[in-house]
Amino acid sequence: MTDLNTPLAILGGMTAQIFIDEYWQKKPLLIRGGLVDFTLPLEADELAGMAMEGDIESRIVIENGLRPWEMRQGPFTEDTFATLPEKEWTLLVQAVDHWVPEIQNLKEQFEFLPSWRLDDVMVSYATEGGSVGPHYDQYDVFLVQVSGKRRWQVLAPDEYQDSAIPNIKLHILDNFTVNPDMDWEVEAGDILYLPPNFAHNGRALDDDCMTYSIGFRAPSMQDVLTGIRDKICETDNVKDRFAAPETANRQHSAHISKDDIQYLQDQLARLVNQPDLLAEWLGETMSESKYPEYLAPLNQDELDEAFTNATQGQTFLRPGDARICYYVQQSADDNAKIRVFCNGENLLVDAELTGFVEAVCHQVEFDFSGLDLTQNSDLEPLVRFFIRQQGLIELVASEE
Ligand code: SIN
Ligand code: CO
Repeated sequence: MTDLNTPLAILGGMTAQIFIDEYWQKKPLLIRGGLVDFTLPLEADELAGMAMEGDIESRIVIENGLRPWEMRQGPFTEDTFATLPEKEWTLLVQAVDHWVPEIQNLKEQFEFLPSWRLDDVMVSYATEGGSVGPHYDQYDVFLVQVSGKRRWQVLAPDEYQDSAIPNIKLHILDNFTVNPDMDWEVEAGDILYLPPNFAHNGRALDDDCMTYSIGFRAPSMQDVLTGIRDKICETDNVKDRFAAPETANRQHSAHISKDDIQYLQDQLARLVNQPDLLAEWLGETMSESKYPEYLAPLNQDELDEAFTNATQGQTFLRPGDARICYYVQQSADDNAKIRVFCNGENLLVDAELTGFVEAVCHQVEFDFSGLDLTQNSDLEPLVRFFIRQQGLIELVASEE
């Protein structure tokens, strides 16, 4: 874990503690020159190449296209790019960190925040004048300018109405005005942090404008409620029924008394008051892969083979977008346990293995041949769990 009191380059020399106390989820912060020692891992034409792949989620927004704020969904072809207007369009590619390992290093600089909150890195390339329109996002985002220049104009949630241009695919605000205190020109290396619901309009100032959006996960309370409900229903006994004791406060047989409601409140509180179960939902949700469809857990044969290879010294890697987190269970007995989450699944293991889990989160490359699996009976199941869930993958030598 990053020392919260150490000045961080990515925060322009601010400590994480000051950032968390004063800005995180509260107000925007413009960080001049926060991105240092960064070699651009991806040119604009390579990003366009990615947007031609069927597996990769991409969009193009053209302000004055076939209709205002035309939005096209990828995958695209050479022809798409050849026929775009000369100016005022933006290409956006989602979850580039999943495909470009170099972007992992950038993500690691945000470890002063919980890693399981970080969602993905979206990369945009815009031609001069390109903008995706004034809008707001419902999650925190760091907008990292990696090349070219952009003008960002930002409004606090109480400075605009949530009223959008009708009949277009995008939710573009129709009443975006300028607050001169939040009107900035940024260049390569600058970072703009925005909390949820701060409206923003970013307009490219040249043809070299690339922005990385580091977005965070923020499930809605509706998602929380339905998720927790499903979890409770998985385990709750159907015989546990509404059984409010009869009350002296009933005015009429048709009257629902406050005591009936109090009973219901108490029962719901009892069901929700299960921290281990809430943690199970949160860990599974936050560790879920961005694209679960591309992440098939290993079958038994594959797992056995990979595990044998691991014990024989084959190099294993933790992919930078493996989503791993853990929770210390509130168990009453002496056998402290942690619930380990990896890409949407979980495993309960001895809390003595916490250090091992943390090491897996910190390191990238592993040689397990010297690992004494007899030191703890939960260690082998844990290593197998990570391999099965592709939190650890075998480094396969390229054929060249
Ligand atoms: C962009 O990169 O053009 C848009 C990013 C955002 O507004 O979230
Ligand atoms: Co945005």
